[in-house]
Amino acid sequence: MRTMRVFLVLALIAFIYPAQGEEDDRVRLSVAPQDSGTTIDRHIFGQFAEHLGRGIYEGIWVGRDSPIPNTRGIRNDVVAALKALHVPVVRWPGGCFADEYHWRKGIGPVEKRPATLNPNWGGVVEPNTFGSHEFLDFVEQLGADAYLSVNVGSGTPQEASEWLEYLTAAKGSALAQERAANGHPAPYKIAFLGIGNESWGCGGAMSPDYYLSQLKIYSRYARNYNSESAMRRIAVGSDGTDTSYTETVMKAWQTKVWSWDIEGLSLHSYTVGKWPPAYKATGFGEAEYAALLRETLRMEDQLQAQSAIMDKYDPQKKLSLAVDEWGAWLAPTPGTNPGFLEQQNSQRDAIIAALNINTFARHADRVHMTNIAQMINVLQAMILTDKEKMLLTPTYYVYRMYVPFQDAVLVPVTFDAGSYVYGGTTLPRVDAIAARAQGGTLWLALTNVDPNRSVRIEVTAPGVRRATGETLTSPKIDSIDTFESPTTIAPKPIAVKSAGGKVILKLVPHSVTVVALEG
Ligand code: AHR
Repeated sequence: MRTMRVFLVLALIAFIYPAQGEEDDRVRLSVAPQDSGTTIDRHIFGQFAEHLGRGIYEGIWVGRDSPIPNTRGIRNDVVAALKALHVPVVRWPGGCFADEYHWRKGIGPVEKRPATLNPNWGGVVEPNTFGSHEFLDFVEQLGADAYLSVNVGSGTPQEASEWLEYLTAAKGSALAQERAANGHPAPYKIAFLGIGNESWGCGGAMSPDYYLSQLKIYSRYARNYNSESAMRRIAVGSDGTDTSYTETVMKAWQTKVWSWDIEGLSLHSYTVGKWPPAYKATGFGEAEYAALLRETLRMEDQLQAQSAIMDKYDPQKKLSLAVDEWGAWLAPTPGTNPGFLEQQNSQRDAIIAALNINTFARHADRVHMTNIAQMINVLQAMILTDKEKMLLTPTYYVYRMYVPFQDAVLVPVTFDAGSYVYGGTTLPRVDAIAARAQGGTLWLALTNVDPNRSVRIEVTAPGVRRATGETLTSPKIDSIDTFESPTTIAPKPIAVKSAGGKVILKLVPHSVTVVALEG
């Protein structure tokens, strides 16, 4: 009996204090024992779907007569997969496409809708079969909020105003009756309205002051008539490190008159390296891995720079920063139309997604929405499709693993991240966030950036009795899932030990792990 007790004590000591050789690879992490703090808005996990390449047509819309199982033309497999992500919001119809989109061409009987062109993205024909009703049906099937971008670049305030009236007015107006005649008597709910897109670039190359004059007009006349649902207006903000739009819009907002208003402004920031995008999506080495992660970590500096300006004019943090386009923008898949922005999705994309989500969560007091670009078949997608086949990407799995963080309360964590060094690049080796979900469970998300070494994580978490989790890793940093081999990368359960107020787990190289800690 005594021998057994000694053995147990020694085993516990060995568990808590590992052998000397493991010392370097140990990261101690402590979680603040608090329950209140900033909520990580679920809209931080939002999506973006533009009329671009095979994002909408094929990716979402296959048409009612398709042999691919669908509900009113919308793919059932894609909807089911996205529902598992609890997609909170979808931004549509663009992107650059939005500033050439004329909503009237996408309503009414499909056979009467005119074909138009999509000059931004491959110059292909836009059939307008997926229009407002189809988009709003799609978000309703997902249980997500709608985020519309109105056309400021080539539209008019009247066109934007009538679109909103058509969608949101109850009975009474001719536009509301027209909507009812087109199959939707009840007014729609539009949760977010983007006033233009990249108005400094593809959206009209407007100076900040010129855009501001447009913003004042559109924010007044693109009205929400649905009194049962609030609509938040998002102004165009800056591009990456440029802060001129943010400065101009925020300064004007601080002293605005009653007749215009906004509830947020946007930031677009891609992990691209250089233009045109040249980083390969597959078949890359450690140099490209380290370089792109260094690039993605610049999101922190950009959020700090944008937030500092917003804080100057809005210290009470009434306005949101919406990072409504972000993600890895890589060289297009060889053999595809370069205007379709198709790219594969590797374990590096999973790490990029996790690092960015962690950064957004740490800025949850200002960042209330983000929209990764883009949801299906375009850029850093959740899903790739090939006719009737559907493939979930490593980025998809990160979003699924992070579902418990939606609307959870951010809990501060302290840790010494250590370093991962490659050539002249030094990066934090480990990243982590923690959040308390409504049921009381404490969730930890941990990323081991190092592609060569495991890390032993020791969490000080008083009162924790049970710990479970799953991890996402891959044989190599550039591993991908394919239609032929779809589960090379997929989350797997991870062994987590908990004893004496400590939780211990091992993060294998280049991995993303999410753990639930329960008392
Ligand atoms: O997401 C692709 C494009 O990137 C969008 O259309 C545009 O807004 C941005 O430049």
